[in-house]
Amino acid sequence: MAAYFDPGALADHFAAHYASATFGHSLTIHTDCLAWMETAPAASVHAIVTDPPYGVKEYELAQLEKRSNGNGGVWRIPPAFDGNERSPLPRFTALSDEERLRVQRFFEEWGRLALRILRPGGHLFIASNAFLSQLVFGALAESGLEFRGETIRLVRTLRGGDRPKNAEQEFPDVCSMPRGCYEPWGLFRKPLPSGMTVAECLRTHQTGGLRRRADGRPFEDVIQSERTPQREREIAEHPSLKPQSFLRTIVYAALPLGRGVILDPFMGSGSTIAAAEAIGYQAIGIERHAEYFAMSRQAIPRLAELAIQEDQLELISI
Ligand SMILES: C[S@@+](CC[C@H](N)C(=O)[O-])C[C@H]1O[C@@H](n2cnc3c(N)ncnc32)[C@H](O)[C@@H]1O
Repeated sequence: MAAYFDPGALADHFAAHYASATFGHSLTIHTDCLAWMETAPAASVHAIVTDPPYGVKEYELAQLEKRSNGNGGVWRIPPAFDGNERSPLPRFTALSDEERLRVQRFFEEWGRLALRILRPGGHLFIASNAFLSQLVFGALAESGLEFRGETIRLVRTLRGGDRPKNAEQEFPDVCSMPRGCYEPWGLFRKPLPSGMTVAECLRTHQTGGLRRRADGRPFEDVIQSERTPQREREIAEHPSLKPQSFLRTIVYAALPLGRGVILDPFMGSGSTIAAAEAIGYQAIGIERHAEYFAMSRQAIPRLAELAIQEDQLELISI
């Protein structure tokens, strides 16, 4: 695939005065994405694929400190399961009304910036969870992005399914909420210019549609997935690391013509950037936490070079 910019030009165009690094076709920048998206060239990226801080506050420095001290905060330390120690999970049900309003305002503001930076017809894939998707997707639609449905990542999350707390014996046949078996990803699009067809948008902006699978079948909105494999978690110890198998599938679909630039404004350890690199796409990742930015520098090339699984070959071709 012909790159949209060579990596040096990408840095000149997008990194401004921020600390940055390049990998293959791609660029990573150490800064706050809100500040960056406000000033980066408008209508410059073809798609956004991202996994934001769902509850906004779980990635605040104070909460990250509580997580590493084992103190909890918004990070729930789950009981061991089947003899395995489980990693802390953000406790989204613990958000107050005021915090939910804060999440809503954050995504309304962030959505306006996503509209600014996307080309017309550019798609956004955004990770969420069953508790907050209604709030987050509503806020993004409010900001002017066009809601195009959801992509369901089928994965057993280990969330929910418990008997009522402190009354497990009394109500053995009850679970207080369903055991989580999916992760909803919102699918949005920057509206096409008035009167423009998808075909015209593809010709003019290389956006507007989604790329078909390598076997010619359409991209499907339910994807059989997996928990992030151990070999990937050994490369990047980020608490929200997503699996390459899933990310490569949606990153592939996000560029309908297989060319352009993908942005991940909340890149964490850089798993989206690695997925783009593995496919041969060009990507820009933004991360504001110094430790995760440093982690991405070693993780991106190692995640990108992981071999593709057999069953992924029909979904994406490299
Ligand atoms: C849910 S995690 C994404 C992890 C990623 N999926 C991975 O596989 O590594 C969200 C990331 O966004 C970062 N973040 C939070 N607010 C940010 C902001 N305003 N600008 C840039 N990064 C931010 C957090 O530090 C965190 O690493």
